[in-house]
Amino acid sequence: MNVKVKAGKLYVMGVGPGASDLITVRAARILRELDVIYTPTGKKGAQSLAHFIIEEYLSPTTKVCTYHFLMKADKAAKESVWNDVAQTLEEDVANGRKVGFITLGDPMLFSTWVFLLERMMSKRTEIPPWLEIVPGIASFSAIAAVSAMPLAMEDQTLAVISCTVSETALEQALLNHDCIVLMKVYSRFALIRDLLHRHNLLKHALMMADATLPTEQCWRDLATLSLGEQELSYFSTILINKNWQLSR
Ligand SMILES: C[S@@+](CC[C@H](N)C(=O)[O-])C[C@H]1O[C@@H](n2cnc3c(N)ncnc32)[C@H](O)[C@@H]1O
Repeated sequence: MNVKVKAGKLYVMGVGPGASDLITVRAARILRELDVIYTPTGKKGAQSLAHFIIEEYLSPTTKVCTYHFLMKADKAAKESVWNDVAQTLEEDVANGRKVGFITLGDPMLFSTWVFLLERMMSKRTEIPPWLEIVPGIASFSAIAAVSAMPLAMEDQTLAVISCTVSETALEQALLNHDCIVLMKVYSRFALIRDLLHRHNLLKHALMMADATLPTEQCWRDLATLSLGEQELSYFSTILINKNWQLSR
């Protein structure tokens, strides 16, 4: 007798910036139908924020697997986790499961998912038919909306930069573009504020932390903000628009 294994599928879904109702209708539908879901966490033992956001959409029969993606380890240790997770996802799909993998914001923007995608594509020339990537609302889109701060218009340019780059690269981005999104601000806030001050950009910049979450905070006057590095949420982003003067 020929036993047919049902076709498995991997759904990679962006769950948006924080509020549970900022995910797509498509992601909400898929979440109800999963056999297993993989949720990332940056800290061992910590609840995954992405899981918290979509918990209400999950079926009680879906198995939840939390993966600890090492944020501060060396490259080899991180790569070993990415290899492991990419392989597990593919094995689950091969076994006929409907597998979910969730990421904060949009999965194609500064997301660990991209390291897994790299591994999956390294042995293929085409996108596998068992993979579907569902976009999510990126944090900076949500921040622009919540703060009523436009991102770019007409012939203006927009740059999205991680503050982990060099000071020179940050400064070049500030000089070369009309609108700049600075992500992963945390420990570099003081340096960025100095750069904004030096280039007379403070009046065009705002920072938002934990956007659309109950702990959301927005600062429209970065010049006077006194903030210790420890106090700043990992989820902090600065928007700058040279053609938009902030109303306070
Ligand atoms: C690893 S990246 C994830 C980006 C995500 N894929 C996206 O589309 O927004 C983490 C950075 O995203 C930004 N971020 C994510 N969620 C945020 C939120 N709710 N409020 C403010 N910034 C957020 C912060 O700059 C944070 O350091």
